[in-house]
Amino acid sequence: MKTTVLTLKAQKQNGDKITMLTAYDYSTALLMDEADIDCLLVGDSLGMVMLGYENTLAVTVEDIIYHTRAVARAAKHAMVIADMPFLSYQVNVEDAVRNAGRFLKEANAHAVKLEGGREVCPQIRAITDATIPVVAHLGLTPQSVNALGGFKVQGRDATAAYRLLHDALAVEEAGAFAVVLECVPADLATWITGKLSIPTIGIGAGAGCDGQVLVYQDMLGLYGGTPAKFVKQFANAGELMRQGFSSYIEEVKNGAFPAQEHCYKIEPEALAEAKRMAGE
Ligand code: KIV
Repeated sequence: MKTTVLTLKAQKQNGDKITMLTAYDYSTALLMDEADIDCLLVGDSLGMVMLGYENTLAVTVEDIIYHTRAVARAAKHAMVIADMPFLSYQVNVEDAVRNAGRFLKEANAHAVKLEGGREVCPQIRAITDATIPVVAHLGLTPQSVNALGGFKVQGRDATAAYRLLHDALAVEEAGAFAVVLECVPADLATWITGKLSIPTIGIGAGAGCDGQVLVYQDMLGLYGGTPAKFVKQFANAGELMRQGFSSYIEEVKNGAFPAQEHCYKIEPEALAEAKRMAGE
């Protein structure tokens, strides 16, 4: 069954947790879709984990379209959500609608995600009015890393916590069908989840959210550095890949690869004739 805005709404109502992972390419998205993931997010985190940038700010609409196309080709049942990159929606409402539309028209996404609270409600309203489903994103919003002074937990004091609730209610009111809560204290995220009729998807926001999202390189040990506290490594694919690469290099060097079973055959007479033709 295809995941839609209606199935996600029903999942919240039934207490059936929503699963989301980031995806940026066809073969990985295929594995996730076959594993029955609900949603694939083509996050602007691709700037860091796929392109090696220090943060997400340099990611372009073209980058997200390119990767979303690949992911959408793999998604048989998962909802594909394209992340709107920095300055693709903040400048004005018209830009926001036009850019959001490109992810559906040119890349086959089913929905878009954008960061921010009350300040982006006009954009959320206009994009949903254009019949494009929107996921909001609150708490640690990486596109605001410079304004926030770094990648830090958000909503820790009473005023900030109250502001976060207010933002969550505002994006719901503006038409968002779900909201990502990133790096928010677990009890605050649980409280906000109970106040909203739309699902919350947590990343570093505890188990009280209606669903969870992780960057797949983090949960598979594929990205260097010290992972954030909220990351659980579900498999060490990085180590497996390193071992595979080392074995390949070793076997090519020592002649063990390719072996007979990896080779195509030619009839000896045909080769002998070719050599005769070459004057050997
Ligand atoms: O860009 C991204 O991958 C995200 C998730 C971390 C929610 O926004």
